[in-house]
Amino acid sequence: MGEPTASSRDRFGEVIANRLTELEAVSDEPGQLTRLYLGAAHRKAVDLVSAWMREAGMTVRLDAAANVVGHYEAREGGQRTLLIGSHIDTVRNAGRYDGNLGVVTAIEVVKAAHQSGKRYPFAVDVVAFGDEEGVRFPSTLSGSRTLAGTFDPKGLDDLDDAGVSRRQALSAFGCDSSRLPAEARQPDRIIGYVEVHIEQGPVLEKEGLAVGVVTAIDGVTRAVVEIDGVAGHAGTVPMSMRHDALAAAAEMLVAIEARASSRPHLVATVGKIDVPGGAVNTIPGLVRFTLDVRSSMDHERLSAFSDIRDTIAAVAQRRGVEARIVVGHEASAAYCDTALSDRLAAAAQTCGIAPRLISSGAGHDAMAFDRVIPFAMLFVRCRGGVSHSPDEFASPADIDVAARVLSTFLDMIGAQS
Ligand code: GLV
Ligand code: MN
Ligand code: MN
Repeated sequence: MGEPTASSRDRFGEVIANRLTELEAVSDEPGQLTRLYLGAAHRKAVDLVSAWMREAGMTVRLDAAANVVGHYEAREGGQRTLLIGSHIDTVRNAGRYDGNLGVVTAIEVVKAAHQSGKRYPFAVDVVAFGDEEGVRFPSTLSGSRTLAGTFDPKGLDDLDDAGVSRRQALSAFGCDSSRLPAEARQPDRIIGYVEVHIEQGPVLEKEGLAVGVVTAIDGVTRAVVEIDGVAGHAGTVPMSMRHDALAAAAEMLVAIEARASSRPHLVATVGKIDVPGGAVNTIPGLVRFTLDVRSSMDHERLSAFSDIRDTIAAVAQRRGVEARIVVGHEASAAYCDTALSDRLAAAAQTCGIAPRLISSGAGHDAMAFDRVIPFAMLFVRCRGGVSHSPDEFASPADIDVAARVLSTFLDMIGAQS
């Protein structure tokens, strides 16, 4: 089959792109998109997405983890459910596509089925997760892990930068955290979980393809490193007598970069560093920095993390500072289900797209379902491979392809059920 016809092209794409622009305006910060889990903008996004789900023929509820769940009833006799989702939280100063694209696309595909009176032999639950980026609390994927039944209740004691716990934030949002275990889905009632997401990398663009089928998602370890040095006067303490926490952190950062660069399929990032109470004329006494280590091979990630731990301890000892490392989030590399992925590839082919297999360096809610519920993902080309930036862009034409692939995929799963 060839290129889509001009009349079918952008039927979904324009509508989805317009809704993403509408959703982009829902932000915690003026002039840029920042939407953190359980914040004021998250609440507004929940309301907007809920309204779109209702219009698409779904019944809607906010579950105990603040996931918005839109339920599209099965044809009579349908017993099982297909989950389709992504996230509506964002990084700071985000692009409008990361996460939001998958949620809006799923809603539009269900809306098209609803408008044409189509029911599938299974129910479709469209889920808008709220805790994928992990910007607010140290652990993340709490929404998807709640559905998978693998959320660790210790995460309820996680604190944000203002000292508010996850438990308190959920309660202020109207969510009862004691109900979290009851939200777990029974795997034998679930066909699988499917997520549409921008690629966040340059491969599809380089190969001239609108979409790609994901094979696996890299594993990740995230931690916060706290360095306790000795604060002092910048003018009076000789260099040889200092225990500068920031200088120690700088040496650690360079060592982390070198360790990650020493192996293929391994990346490590220090994305945030704070010097609480820092001043131009004060030797830093306390520093906190974040650490994010990823690999498609768990043994590479674990061995790198262990080496980084040793290096941090050695630098700290030599410089007479104390270092503490607290791991906040950890996920193994997760492999997509071949049967579901084959269906996605067949759906892409039906839509005239050569099915390209691609792996994911970015984390996704899908990985929370690893070894519990089969999952598959469809990536959408994004301009320049740019993501986690306001410059993120996916064209309406490519979004249209993704929506048609998803819609075709649902028909195929329906035909085989
Ligand atoms: C989420 O975007 C992540 O990969 O950190
Ligand atoms: Mn994402
Ligand atoms: Mn992201």
